[in-house]
Amino acid sequence: MPRKILVTSALPYANGAIHLGHLVEYIQTDIWVRFQKMQPKDKVAECWYVCADDTHGTPIMLRAQNDGITPEALIERVHGEHARDFAGFHVAFDNFYTTNSPETQEQVNFFYDRLKKTGLIEKRAIEQYYDPVKELFLPDRFIKGECPKCGAKDQYGDNCEACGAAYTPNELKNPYSAISGAKPELRNSDHYFFKLSDERCQKFLRRWTRLPGRLQPEAANKMQEWLGAEGENKLTDWDISRDAPYFGFEIPDAPGKYFYVWVDAPIGYMGSFKNLCGQRGIDFDEFFRPDTPTEMYHFIGKDILYFHALFWPAMLEHVGLRTPGGIFAHGFLTVDGAKMSKSRGTFITAESYLKTGLDPEWLRYYYAAKLNSTMEDIDLNLEDFVARVNSDLVGKYVNIASRCAGFISKKFDGQLAATQAEWQKPLREAAARIAEAYEQREYGRALREIMALADTANIFVNDKKPWELARHDDQQTELHAACSQAIEAFRLLTLYLKPVLPKVAEAVEAFLGIAPLSWNDAATPLPAGHAIKAYSHLMTRIDPRLIATLVEANKESLAPVVEKKDEKNDKDKTAAPALPASPEANAPISIEDFMKVELRVARIVDAGHVEGAEKLIRLSLDIGETENGQMRPRQVFAGIKSAYDPEQLIGRMTVMVANLAPLKMRFGLSEGMILAASDPEGAIPGIFLLAPDTGAHPGMRVK
Ligand code: 2FM
Ligand code: ZN
Repeated sequence: MPRKILVTSALPYANGAIHLGHLVEYIQTDIWVRFQKMQPKDKVAECWYVCADDTHGTPIMLRAQNDGITPEALIERVHGEHARDFAGFHVAFDNFYTTNSPETQEQVNFFYDRLKKTGLIEKRAIEQYYDPVKELFLPDRFIKGECPKCGAKDQYGDNCEACGAAYTPNELKNPYSAISGAKPELRNSDHYFFKLSDERCQKFLRRWTRLPGRLQPEAANKMQEWLGAEGENKLTDWDISRDAPYFGFEIPDAPGKYFYVWVDAPIGYMGSFKNLCGQRGIDFDEFFRPDTPTEMYHFIGKDILYFHALFWPAMLEHVGLRTPGGIFAHGFLTVDGAKMSKSRGTFITAESYLKTGLDPEWLRYYYAAKLNSTMEDIDLNLEDFVARVNSDLVGKYVNIASRCAGFISKKFDGQLAATQAEWQKPLREAAARIAEAYEQREYGRALREIMALADTANIFVNDKKPWELARHDDQQTELHAACSQAIEAFRLLTLYLKPVLPKVAEAVEAFLGIAPLSWNDAATPLPAGHAIKAYSHLMTRIDPRLIATLVEANKESLAPVVEKKDEKNDKDKTAAPALPASPEANAPISIEDFMKVELRVARIVDAGHVEGAEKLIRLSLDIGETENGQMRPRQVFAGIKSAYDPEQLIGRMTVMVANLAPLKMRFGLSEGMILAASDPEGAIPGIFLLAPDTGAHPGMRVK
């Protein structure tokens, strides 16, 4: 039976830019899908690749509010940016949709209805923190306070970054809302739960997680840990509802209650596919009925395994649908051996990579060379990136064509002689092994093998020395044969590299004058007499200066950067709202709005450099606050280092925003902001600190 496959990558949140970390997964999936699409139809009849933006949840709602636009306008803008970035890296979804769609909503309602009928939904009142200023229930991520175990300040609501303790938000001491800074109140509210602890779920998951091929060995072990020993019930029910205000789908029979974003995210895979089915006339049900032989695979990061290997299969099973054929989790990306960092310029956005003029296929190749089927982290070492791409792709692969093609055009009218020879045997025989490596997601292994074959071809060219043969009239036949054989070897290598380098492959297909290469073409060499086109450059070397430019372009901006919580341990994955005001936010505000900003005169009592920060100065500010009779200074990190020497600032008066919610930065807590002027167009250089007139005192209110 020819295979019919549905493939997904995790849905990116609709409030942030695609960066090189995201791209590991999209490139990994895209390579796998392209490989499947190259298979003959009697092997793989259909392979569909769908994705969507993950559009719901509190962070997206707050982000839109902050930008002064509707969530719909925000997600539409971001959808355009994401689609642009994916296309830029040749990630070829069959459909890139949105979870905020009628198809997804219909499916979500169907799931809810079925699960309710099956007795797997339960309503329960819970106590939860509420922000009386913002008037909303606070997700764990937006509650901060002192760690109940070690007392560390400014810890998130679920675990302490200082001592590692895990707890519930209700245990935090002196909690405050990370959105408004207000003291939250505990309030009761009805929530809906998916009963993961139900015997039926436990039983099913124990069986499902052990089925062959469903999970990688490391993931299966993790599941056993989460499930606990036989007879032990370790799974807890899952809170699937959120209270208004919330941007999401309202629960049909519970006004004011919304489905938690993580309910409609995986169902969004189905919504996107359903939408595609409508466009292309595909049989949607065939992919989700439990009794069909279709296959569904989810490529994800290891941080969201819990959602995909527990909640998702359990929900599918109990609404009577087909469960995933496999969950393929990958590791995290590090850059130069460390977590991506804005201050080092290694938090690199997809857009900046492309804008800098770097070739997306360089990155595709490098990632592929590092990827395998495990959940190990992968490192983008920038120096190695340059060396590897230049040596493998330019020095080995492209080199074969660039040294031989010219002679065919100039001396033989573009026509090939017989192309097959004994020395190419290993190149032909490798097709099945390379295919197996791609199928198993062992791309590193596939590329090592392909490069070894490129070495074989280069050794042949080096031995034959076409450039020398060309100088002797009596060696033209040998020249013709050698170049024709090398071109055939180049065709084979191109075929093997095509899932990774689709655009190069397209250019080679045009140069060779052949139809798009598919896997079976490995067995069909170019015939003698076949005409090729003139060779033109296929790929350039990476100029290391481009990498320096790229890193510079991604160095932290003047705006303080909210330290993002370590996503590895964050089950309730919702990004912190990093909230730069957008240009849309220039509507007039009321005097009340203005008065919300508490501006105070401040004296700079101390100032110093911040290790590891290029643009920041650490300031200690007296704003008239005291603690136990002593002046209690505020610490602020200000991006003014390009304009001021810390020494010259000590003793100066300025103005600060005193009621800004504290920001945890890489270097410590920033407890406000000082005011400075600069030209928005950047035409007039410099940053100019504001100062009150003589006579003003620290703590005076500025209005
Ligand atoms: O972790 C994330 O970025 C989520 N937006 C992934 C969702 S994947 C799926 F379940 F939709
Ligand atoms: Zn602690």
